[in-house]
Amino acid sequence: MRITLSVIKADVGGYVGHSSVHPDMLETIREVIREEVKKGNLIDADTLVCGDDTALVMTHTHGVDSEIVHGIAWKAFEKATQVAKKLKLYGAGQDILSTAFSGNVKGMGPGVAEMEFEERPSEPVIIFFADKTSPSAWNLPLYEMFADPMVCAGLVIDPKMHDGFTFEVLDTYTGKAVKLSTPAELYELLALIGAVERYAVRNVWRNHDGEIAATASTQRLSLIAGKYVGKDDPVMIVRAQAGFPAVGEILEPFARPWIVEGWMRGSHNGPLMPVSFRYATPTRFDGPPRVIAAGYQLAEGKLIGPRDLFDDPAFDKAREQAQIIADILRRQGIFEPHRLPSEEMEYTTLPKILKKLEERFYEVEAPKKPVEETSEKHDVD
Ligand code: 13P
Ligand code: 13P
Ligand code: MG
Ligand code: MG
Ligand code: MG
Repeated sequence: MRITLSVIKADVGGYVGHSSVHPDMLETIREVIREEVKKGNLIDADTLVCGDDTALVMTHTHGVDSEIVHGIAWKAFEKATQVAKKLKLYGAGQDILSTAFSGNVKGMGPGVAEMEFEERPSEPVIIFFADKTSPSAWNLPLYEMFADPMVCAGLVIDPKMHDGFTFEVLDTYTGKAVKLSTPAELYELLALIGAVERYAVRNVWRNHDGEIAATASTQRLSLIAGKYVGKDDPVMIVRAQAGFPAVGEILEPFARPWIVEGWMRGSHNGPLMPVSFRYATPTRFDGPPRVIAAGYQLAEGKLIGPRDLFDDPAFDKAREQAQIIADILRRQGIFEPHRLPSEEMEYTTLPKILKKLEERFYEVEAPKKPVEETSEKHDVD
């Protein structure tokens, strides 16, 4: 049976501040999806929470970009916004950037990750969900899961993975994407996806047969809204086992925390801390950024699960390391490189502050000009 797994997420109000979702909002969303399952529009549905964001996990047969499914998410988020407004929760309707639904939530604020596939005899999938960060947070782990044999042993051991994987990389500034096949184009891939402020991995396919392996939400709120309106807080779906990385190979990158952009006011670099559902409540300096992993087995489209995959003492060390990185970065206070570089801060409210000072700058030196290049100059790297 061909199944579509759609994960659509949004922050429509924080409880308290930007730290969590109020139970009444969640119940409202659950009522909507339960009703849609009953009506037959969805095979099954579930909700996940990470920080102040809620994700709708939906299975169905309408394919990706379905108006029915996007409409359900829109309705659920609108109703939850009403609850958030009534309770005066923080940033009620924060990620709802448009007032009228026109068939697809992409470009309207919510983040979307969807994939359609023939359900295998056993179909384990993992949904990752992060708060206080941006879609490029997935670049490093996706590289390690699908292109680094030192992390994913299956790339060497499983013949179905020997042909490698193709990554679709989105240039979030231009909206253009490029497909790069690994291992052949590994270095080109890394050249792009290491530039996390610009490039984000959108999809990964298995080269052996073109099967979809992973898909991520790449919507960037600041680029849609033209100003800072909160962080994107992305989701990602990864298929596991039998020709795909094993569950443990998919989780392994998260055992060694790395630094992502987001955290306080979306303006700071910080470690991505893998946590159980229970601890997906970022409060220290509104963070540090969190990620949860929800594992499901699909059975004729039914969502068997979730299993809370980071609820394992084997990730305690990663959490501890994340705390140490957090302390080191916090020592920098408002100074870079804890604070994001100036180009990134342009999408925050900082330009307003700079505008106030514009008139007060005066010249003390002639502006610096670049030195002329001579023809004999050697390359220096
Ligand atoms: P089990 O013997 O526990 O099923 O483990 C199989 C395996 O391949 C784990 O990576
Ligand atoms: P959210 O995108 O999670 O709402 O975070 C916004 C923020 O500014 C946190 O400090
Ligand atoms: Mg928020
Ligand atoms: Mg959030
Ligand atoms: Mg957000």
